[in-house]
Formats: sequence, structure tokens, C-alpha cells
Amino acid sequence: MSARSAQHRAGAPAGAAGQLDVLVVGGGVIGLVTAWRAAQRGLRTAVADPEPGGGAARVAAGMLAAVTELHHGEQTLLGLNLASAHRYPDFAAELSEVSGQDLGYRRCGTLAVALDADDRAHLRELHTLQTRSGLDSEWLSGRECRRLEPMLAPGVRGGLRVDGDHQIDPRRLASALVTACERAGVALHRQWVERLRTAGDRATGAVLGDGTELAAGRTVLAGGSLSGKLAGVPPEVLPPVRPVKGQVLRLRVPAGYGPFLSRTVRAVVRGGQVYLVPRLNGELVLGATTEELGWDTTVTAGGVYELLRDAHELIPGITELPLAETRAGLRPGSPDNAPLLGPTGLDGLLLATGHHRNGVLLTPITGDILAHALTEGELPAEARPFTPRRFTAGAPVELPV
Ligand code: GLY
Repeated sequence: MSARSAQHRAGAPAGAAGQLDVLVVGGGVIGLVTAWRAAQRGLRTAVADPEPGGGAARVAAGMLAAVTELHHGEQTLLGLNLASAHRYPDFAAELSEVSGQDLGYRRCGTLAVALDADDRAHLRELHTLQTRSGLDSEWLSGRECRRLEPMLAPGVRGGLRVDGDHQIDPRRLASALVTACERAGVALHRQWVERLRTAGDRATGAVLGDGTELAAGRTVLAGGSLSGKLAGVPPEVLPPVRPVKGQVLRLRVPAGYGPFLSRTVRAVVRGGQVYLVPRLNGELVLGATTEELGWDTTVTAGGVYELLRDAHELIPGITELPLAETRAGLRPGSPDNAPLLGPTGLDGLLLATGHHRNGVLLTPITGDILAHALTEGELPAEARPFTPRRFTAGAPVELPV
């Protein structure tokens, strides 16, 4: 479809010469994939962000954990997560080819283990939910877990083997998306967005920090945890997104050390999530805290202590490894933990935000959904439960389960 006919079908006004079809506010993985897919469909597209490829993906571990991160009451989100996981092999192959970069996509599976009776009961409950949801997940004894992962502590009481939950390196993913955008002709404006531009009851682009005005037929707000703060967005369409802090450590398995872990290993220890994601290049990502502390991104002694303490109970050998990096990022949390995708109550303004714990996992499907919404003017059927409009009629509406 040509840009002109795509624009016409989506109900956007005919653009003045020099006007963009689509301006994406935010250059994290969600904004970049939206811009890339829009440009592939012939739309004149730009991204505004001071550091394209930055954002939460610089911190995230990159687990593609639709099955091991399943929660009660989130079956609709599970459908979206699984659909995106299903698209990952083709998405990764295409992006890798277009960008010429290796994304660190690793189909290694995940082992979720229990250290005590409470953890075991929690894991049993998760297994019941997974089985009821038709997901592949196998209960293993402690001995079977250690046979798969010999570095596990002798006290491991049992676990779930989930061969379908994989990983990707989010930093490589972000970098490849920047390259793919550039090669698809997306203009990257390395600036903060000062405010949304509006005319009457329509969004018409954005004003950048240096005063530059970018006129666009459609504006996609994909600002991660900052999405709820963009000036100029009417209060009734401002997304109810909040920052949820996560502290993450990066350890390094020295060359010649031998295999440390062959797959992602995770556990719930004293109610907190801990996971270890081993990369083929020797990086071992250890995450993550979940903290509701507003815009604070301090790495704290307490956060690092708790992560290392819990991970050490799981894998005693980790304390021998060099600690290469500590970082904190902000997940874009939403009231129902699900993303806000597609058109809003303000003509010309779409959202792609609120991905919370699943931004990396949902990257492929978000790009496809937003490209569809930008060319067809409406969400595809699979994305309709995630319309931002579910929050605009007053009290938040529960997603159907
Ligand atoms: N999905 C992992 C996390 O948000 O910590």
C-alpha cells in the first residue's frame, strides 16, 4: 500500500508537503519497532528521542517468559504474550538480516525452581494454572533440576521445566532496531519532546526541546514510563502509566570457566522474583527488584544485597563471578499490567505503552499491531482488549479473562 492510500484508509487528513505521516514519541524498543514497521508500509515516519535505543531495554534481562511469568487473572494478556513469542523466530531472523546484527536470540528454555516448602507450593499453583491454560510445563524433582543445571544448590526442592520460554539480548535488539529504522528511511530526531502539538480536537505532531515543530498526520506516544507525562495531551487521554523500578546486575562468567547455566533459571525467594539469564558471550544477567518508588533510579546497597543473597541461595557459585555492572530501570506499569495499544479519544494520537514486565517479549506483536492501526485506522481483532479506551470511561475496566 502506498503512503497516500494508507493515510487515506486510516482517516488521517491529507498531509501538507513536508508533513510526516507518523511521528513516534519515544525511541525505546516499542517506539522503534513501531516506526520500523510503519516505514516498511510506506509511511513517512520519524522518531523523537534524545537517545534512540535507550530506555528500559538498556536494563532489561530479555527473558521471553510468557509461560513462567503467567499470573492469575492475566489470561487475556497471556494470549498476546504467546502470540508475540510465536512471532519471535521470524521477527529475529528478519531484523538480524536487515540490520546485519546478531540479536543474541537464544532458544534455551527456562527452569523455575523452588527452594523451600512455600516456594514449592507457589510453583505447584503456577503449574496448575499453566496446565489449565494449555501451556507446556513439566514438573521436575529437585534431583532432576540439578541434573539439568548442576550449579543449582543441593537444597532445590523441585521445579518447572518450560522449554518454550527463551531470551534475547535487549541491548542488541534496541541497537538493531535503530539500524533497521535508519535503513527503512525513518528520521531520528535526537531530542526531548517538549509537548504534543494539537489543532482543535486533533493531535498534529510535537514540539521538540529546541522549539522545532514536527507536523504529523498521526502521533504515536511510546514513551515508556514517561508516557503519562507528555505536556499537551488532554488529561482524559493521558495514559495511566507509572514507573516500576527494577534493579539488575550483570555478572561475567570468565572464558574457560565452562558452562555455568545452560538456560534461564528463576525462582521466587521470600516472595521476590530472582532470575539468572545466561548469554552465550559469558554475560550472566541477574534480576530484578520490583519497587514502586516513582522516578528513582538509584542502585541501592539493599537492592544489590537482596538480589545476590537470593541468587546465592539458588546458585552458590555466583559469588565467585566478577560483578560487571549494576543498573536500575523503570518498567512502564499500567493498572492491569497490560499494554495500551492503538487509537485514543484524541484524533491523530495513538498509544504504544504500558508494557510493564513484557516490553521485550511484546516488541514483535506491538510493531505489527501499530502498523495495522496506522494503515487501517483500527486495531486488529487480537489487540482490541488492549485499547487505551478501556481506561477513559471513568473507572478502569477489567480485561476479560
Ligand atoms: N520481565 C522481567 C521483569 O520485568 O523483571
